[in-house]
Amino acid sequence: MNSAHPHAFLVAPGGHLHGSVRVPGDKSISHRSIMLGAIAEGTTHITGFLEGEDSLATLNAFRQMGVHIEGPHHGRVTVQGVGLHGLRAPSAPLNLGNSGTSMRLLAGLLAGQAFDVVMTGDDSLSRRPMRRVTEPLAQMGARIDATAAGTPPLHIHGGTRLQALDYVMPMASAQVKSCLLLAGLYAQGDLTTCVTEPAPTRDHTERMLRGFGYPVEYKSAKVCVSSGHRLTATSIDVPADISSAAFFMVGASIAAGSDLTLEHVGINPTRTGVINILRLMGANIEILREREIGGEPVADIRVRASRLRGVVIPRDQVPLAIDEFPALFIAAACADGETVLTGAEELRVKESDRIQVMADGLLALGIDARPTPDGMIIRGSSLSGGRVNSHGDHRIAMAFAMAALRASGPIVIDDCANVATSFPGFVELARRAGLTIDMTGVDHSSLTPGSI
Ligand code: S3P
Repeated sequence: MNSAHPHAFLVAPGGHLHGSVRVPGDKSISHRSIMLGAIAEGTTHITGFLEGEDSLATLNAFRQMGVHIEGPHHGRVTVQGVGLHGLRAPSAPLNLGNSGTSMRLLAGLLAGQAFDVVMTGDDSLSRRPMRRVTEPLAQMGARIDATAAGTPPLHIHGGTRLQALDYVMPMASAQVKSCLLLAGLYAQGDLTTCVTEPAPTRDHTERMLRGFGYPVEYKSAKVCVSSGHRLTATSIDVPADISSAAFFMVGASIAAGSDLTLEHVGINPTRTGVINILRLMGANIEILREREIGGEPVADIRVRASRLRGVVIPRDQVPLAIDEFPALFIAAACADGETVLTGAEELRVKESDRIQVMADGLLALGIDARPTPDGMIIRGSSLSGGRVNSHGDHRIAMAFAMAALRASGPIVIDDCANVATSFPGFVELARRAGLTIDMTGVDHSSLTPGSI
């Protein structure tokens, strides 16, 4: 298997995870810290900012719209807010790379500006569905062109008067909710925009709006904002991303002898599905030093190896673990018995079709994984070594890297460059925790000769 592609991960089998590590900052909170900092009045100081390609795409988009931003420097960013109406027309399209969150949230924030904007992305983002935001925004009066398939590039026409909207979302999506709340800040005539979600989704936008002094109201199952208020600059400490910690939680759970602590992890209850599901499977997870930082709950998470069993994943946990299924599928492959996931059709429209791509990879490693339209059935057994393709999806690459801890031979994972979108320094941190991993073209010295 010497013909691994550039940017392939080469992971030697076995080992365990140990010690104490801090994974990079939360991606969702990092995006929002730039967006709200930019439209606030005054200077916002951010620490723990994720220096990954996705959140940097958001940062660069605001620089293109005339916002003065210093950093990031070791996670520190300073944003000179321009107020709700201080953004300027960019001189070129905003290229948002791989980042669906940037494009969907910005669609709402930019729909009510005085100027036109074009937003583009890479091949993966250019295939992702945008009607879920362009249709409700059109109901608010926005004028946005997409391709005939409803995909990017998006051309937002400026100078339209946005109306408030009372919207019942057809899917549980924090991106759609956040997009509409941000558009609601610009509704004409002090009107109230409300979003009802079919199931709770991450609430970082609502929490952070409040942190910037902007009123947010809850009316039974609805979350509402009224236009006519202002955001006041603040300080934001971004916790470590539970979605990045999830790979290590799974790795430490499946690898005998592991005892790993993940430091300063955001444990917002709208994000902790991965902990709930792993515990249901029998994982040994302790939440330590629970505290609240800047309106978000944070803790250290200690994970020790344990014997996992297959479960039927409760449907109410799906939106709370939506980004963690690649990692959870690896846990299921190592569990005794069958794990059944349903109600997760959203996984088919993430950075890749995460149901198909994970099923293909698990099959290549000898696991009985049966994809269904809205989930997967996985029968746990022994993982062989082999070669899998992440299809440029960062979370699939990192999930299969952890699978090597239990594999009988080395695993090669192709197309891993996009790991840098959410987890810069993954290879180094994973090595420090005990994984024997290299990226091709970087340094193979720690792999046993001939092992790959
Ligand atoms: C995100 C919401 C989720 C998640 C994505 C980040 C956010 O997407 O998958 O990685 O920051 O709001 P959906 O809202 O489309 O489920």
